[in-house]
Order: sequence, then C-alpha cells, then structure tokens
Amino acid sequence: MSAPHAPHQLFVTTALPYANGNFHIGHIMEYIQADIWVRFQRMQGSQVHFVGADDTHGAPIMIAAEKAGLTPQQFVANIAAGRKPYLDGFHIAFDNWHSTDAPENHELARQIYRDLKTTGLIETRTIEQFFDPEKNMFLPDRYIKGECPKCHAKDQYGDNCEVCGSVYAPTDLINPFSTLSGAKPELKSSEHFFFKLSDPRCVAFLTEWTQDGKLQPEVANKVKEWFSVRTNPDGSTSEGLGDWDISRDAPYFGIEIPDAPGKYFYVWLDAPVGYLASLKNLLDQRGEDYNAYMANPALEQIHFIGKDIVTFHTLFWPAMLHFSGRKTPNQVNVHGFLTVNNGEKMSKSRGTGLDPLKYLSLGMNPEWLRYYLAAKLSGRNEDIDFNADDFMARVNSDLIGKFVNIASRSAGFIAKRFGGQLGTVSADGQSLLAALQAATPAIVDFYEVREYGKALREVMLLADKVNAYVDQNKPWELAKQEGMDARLHDVCTACIEAFRLLTLQLKPVLPALAAQVETFLNVTPFTFAQAQNLLGAGHGIQTYQHLMQRVDVKQLEALFEVPEPAAPALVPGGEDIAPTISIDDFTKIDLRIAQIVNCEPVEGSVKLLRLTLDVGEGRTRNVFSGIASRYQPEDLVGKLTVMVANLAPRKMKFGVSEGMVLAASHADEKAEPGIYVLQPWPGAKPGMRIH
Ligand code: MSP
Ligand code: ZN
Repeated sequence: MSAPHAPHQLFVTTALPYANGNFHIGHIMEYIQADIWVRFQRMQGSQVHFVGADDTHGAPIMIAAEKAGLTPQQFVANIAAGRKPYLDGFHIAFDNWHSTDAPENHELARQIYRDLKTTGLIETRTIEQFFDPEKNMFLPDRYIKGECPKCHAKDQYGDNCEVCGSVYAPTDLINPFSTLSGAKPELKSSEHFFFKLSDPRCVAFLTEWTQDGKLQPEVANKVKEWFSVRTNPDGSTSEGLGDWDISRDAPYFGIEIPDAPGKYFYVWLDAPVGYLASLKNLLDQRGEDYNAYMANPALEQIHFIGKDIVTFHTLFWPAMLHFSGRKTPNQVNVHGFLTVNNGEKMSKSRGTGLDPLKYLSLGMNPEWLRYYLAAKLSGRNEDIDFNADDFMARVNSDLIGKFVNIASRSAGFIAKRFGGQLGTVSADGQSLLAALQAATPAIVDFYEVREYGKALREVMLLADKVNAYVDQNKPWELAKQEGMDARLHDVCTACIEAFRLLTLQLKPVLPALAAQVETFLNVTPFTFAQAQNLLGAGHGIQTYQHLMQRVDVKQLEALFEVPEPAAPALVPGGEDIAPTISIDDFTKIDLRIAQIVNCEPVEGSVKLLRLTLDVGEGRTRNVFSGIASRYQPEDLVGKLTVMVANLAPRKMKFGVSEGMVLAASHADEKAEPGIYVLQPWPGAKPGMRIH
C-alpha cells in the first residue's frame, strides 16, 4: 500500500479557540492530533507552517468582558497570556499564535470582503430583529428567552424549546425577555449584509468542491444533504443553500465593514481569515513574502477542526476564498469530540473534570497523554473517550512495559561490558531488525491518513517481536555465563538497534522522549528516511538514563478527585454573582436536609471524606466531599447538613457519589483558604426540602 511520499509545502492550522476561557482537554486533543501530523510531515522532509490564533470577536466575548469590567481588548489579552503553559506543556509546536483582532486580520478580512463585493456576491437586506432597549443593542438569539409557543414551558431559548424540542424564531416566543437586562425586547429593523451562498455560481462551485476528495467520506455525505434541504429558523425547510448573514450592528466587538458605519463583520466571517492573518504575521517576522508563499501552486492548505464547525469550513470558508480569488483548502480534517470517563458531557467553555494544567502540575508526563490520545485517534470523525483505567493500562503496559523497557533491559550491558560500543548483529537479530524496517512504510501511511491508532498498534506488534527475542535470548543469563560475551554483545546490540527504530516510528507522538533517545544514541534527529539505516558495529552510545516513569494510580486519583471550580473568574478577589435565573431554574435543584450518619477518611485521598447521608428516603446515600482539610470525620457524624439530592450520580475513583453536600469557600483557595459545611437551624429534620 505504500507509495513514496514526496516532501510537501504545507500550511496547517487548527480551529481558532474562542478567547473566552482557558483551553480544555478537547482543545488539547485537537492540537495534539494536528501536532503529531505536522511532526510526522517534517520527519518526511516536508516544509510546514503550523499556526493558530485566538478567535476574539463576537457578542459573547464583548459581554463577558463587560461583566469582568474590562475592555474586550484587555479581556482577550488576558486569555492570550494564559495559552503558553498549555501549548509548551503538551509539546504542541505551533510556529505562531496570533489573534483575530490583530491588524493583519482586520486588513485581510476587509480585503476579502471587498473582493467578494466586486464578484457580486454581497447583498444588503433589511431584516427585523429583537433589540434590547435598556442595553441599546440587537440581541443574538441566545440572549432572548421566553415561553415556548408550543408547550408553554417557561424560560426557553430564542431558537428552540428544551422541553418539547420544537424549533421556532425568537419572535414566536411568548413574553420574551432579554437575558442581559431582563427588558422586554422590541422589534427593530436594520440593514444587514448577506453573502449570497444561494447564487448559482456558489452552488455549482461548492457542489464540486465538497465532493472531490478533500473531505472524509462521512463528512462529504453529511455536507451533501445541505445542498438539498435546510432547516429555517421557524422549523420549516427550504431547498438548497441559504444566504449567509455576515453583518452585526454596533455595539459589537469585531471588524468594521468598509463603507458601512456602525456595521461589523459577524465573528464567523473574520474568524477563519485569522488562519491567513497568523500565517502572514509569521512570514512577516521571518522576512518572507506572504503573497509569494500563497501563490505557490504546490502549497497545500490543511485545516484540523472538530465536527461541530463543519458548515463554516466546508461551505462559507471555501466559498469566501474562491470567490475572492484566493486559494481554497486542500483538506479539512474533521475529528470527533473527546469525552472524559465515560461520556461525561463536556461544556464548550468549561471542559470536563480533566484539567490540562492540573494534569501537568501533578507531574504527569505530557507524552502519556499524547500516546493515549494517539492510540485512540483515527482518520474518521468519531468521538473518543478518555478513560482513567484504560489510560493507565495503555501507558504502563504498552508504552513503558513493551517499548521503554527494551532499552532499560539492554543498555546497561553495552555500557558496563562493552565500553558503550555496539557490536555485530548475527542472523536472528538481523531478521528481527529487517522486519522492523519493512514495517515502517505501512506505519508512515497510517500517519499520513491520521490513523494514529493503527500506526501505534503496528509499532506495539513490532515491540512484541523484540520482547520475544529478548525473552528467548535472556541477556541477563548470558551475562552470567562463561564464554558468552560475544552473544551478549550481539543480542544487546540488536535490542538497541530495534529500540532506535521503534523510537523513530513513535517520534511524531513522543517528541521529547525521542529527543532524549537521540542524545542517548549519539545521533542526529530522526527522520523516516533513516529507518533504512542501522547504527552499526562500533557506534558509541551514552549511558542509559531512565526515559519515562509509569503512571501512578495516585496521580489519576488526584486528577479526578475534586470537581474543578468553574472557569477562573477574571475578576480579582472574589467571584461574580452568577447570571440571573428564574424561580423555575431554582426549583430544578432539589435541596434536602441530610443527616450525616457516618463519616470516614478515604484511603489514598487527602482531600476527600466519605459521608453516609440520610435524606429520609428509607436508605442512605454515599457522598464524597472535598472537606478533609477542614473536618475530622468524628466532627461531622450525627450532624445535619444540606445536600443536592437530585444531582446525577458521579463515578469517582473511589466509588459513586450520589449527591453533593453544600459548603462555602472563597473563589480563590489561596487568597483565603477554608471550607465551611452548611448546617441548618435546630428543628430541621432529614428529608425536608429547602425552598
Ligand atoms: N472559535 C470557533 C472556531 C473558529 S475557527 C476559524 C470555535 N471555538 S471553540 O473554542 O469552541 O472550539 C475550538 C475547537 O475545539 C473546535 O474545533 C472544536 O470542535 C474543538 N472542540 C471543542 N470541544 C471539543 C471536545 N470536547 N473534543 C474535541 N474537540 C473539541 O468553535
Ligand atoms: Zn416547548
């Protein structure tokens, strides 16, 4: 199946994350997927420019900034300042990280718009939209709530009802209100700019562009459906592609539309232009010419994105580029979503219980995560799950047990007995090494099509072969036998040569480990072409230093121990009061008086106590609570407290937690330590509801 892979000129991007919060593990997965591919391409001799940027514009960021008492520019600058520890920490080697609010992006977005206008694909229309008279702004659908016109459920969003599932326009809501001010929104008309996606030229171009092999088959099939039917805001359906509303009225944090005072580009118009802006900024820094770079017909433009933003990247973005006379993407690689510990739903802004920085601060090796995610990733857009037990098993038994141990079992003898020099490999060792070399092209092909799981499976099968060879020859026994020096040297040399080939094959996934091995073996950085060579007899190596620790179960316990607090407030000191909720929202939470009938420490956890609670149900509940720093178990037994009784049970390392005990603490644990469990006034009985 292997064809020689010619070196490419590649421009590679990942989706630009909204600058409204820190990275979560889903972002990190996307960057690791792309980073592996980029490193692989570089090992094949390709020239790669790999860039990212913050997606800074839009109403949600403007509103979040206002709440934090910052200008949008200050707000996104704070977010940008926090990116580096994540990227460096997980060995994600972007060549540049930029911002969609940078001058390059303002200029490029406006130029693309002007070109589209010249092509005759921009049109203005007057539309009616809800306007918040107190905030003095038009309201995006997500900031309007009201009563569902179909089932009359209260407090439903402007576009669909979460109770009965019906889809409607915000204007259909009964008693609508602005979630920003509570005011009753008014209908107001405004002139909007549209990109005419329904134009026959766009339809013809996109019909071809989306079906000629640039997209994964499952993605291309999904996209095909959008050409025949589309769902309108009122739930009805129409034929074919609809025009795209690309403007928003002031106040808006965005890029002003040329010759249209008070009108801004909708964030999704300028966001993908940020790919080009980041590249241009990189080339400017290097004194290279952006236009010349983009004009190279051999240049391939590759985007890595998640499955939720396919429309933007397979319809709007290629059409914007093509009809403004620019190069269109060569590949849009779509991945699925990452869930953690069995599908726990990940919020787009807050992520899950797996906090990437906490992972690093616990001393967990970033390359464990790279290896684990790679082992689960394929070229398709299916979802994958991070499972703590599976993670530990794969890292400890495969990565360390099968691979790293090959070096630790053989390197010592080379150093102690043979002056650090490799010897000659005899026939059995040679055939082992030949098998490893012969398997390399298939591994290369798997990396190329992002079938990382298959690539790693192949490498581990080869590692199994090497381990079988070690077990047959037992160097530790050869070392004790008289007259077996030459054979010991031969076997250990074969192991080191094999270890070199396996490391080379794993290098896109494990760049830091591979760099250590390059030093250990006294070699220049590995490339795939070098898989055809061996080190050879007489080659000197360094003393072996242990390359990688095993995962300690305590680290995983600590990682998942206490649910992370909400995204760090950007407010210095305390914590903002959460957005206003209705009484209906409040009554969804079933708070009960609970009696602590038993309480004990949790073995292996310094933070948690295990509480046995009676909430008057005729049974007890098991609840874990992160209050061990403050309370001794005996302080709590017999006391009354308040618990959330209808919280979904949560599986933790130590068992299932069936609810949550209420406790107060400062937003910043370091600023003011201490946690205080709630206790009712005398007279309350277990099971009473809190209203
Ligand atoms: N700002 C837009 C993208 C603009 S691209 C010109 C956006 N930002 S995002 O922060 O919400 O998402 C950024 C990327 O992270 C997207 O590709 C998205 O699919 C991906 N992921 C978000 N949550 C994810 C998981 N749980 N798992 C994997 N990827 C996920 O969309
Ligand atoms: Zn409804």
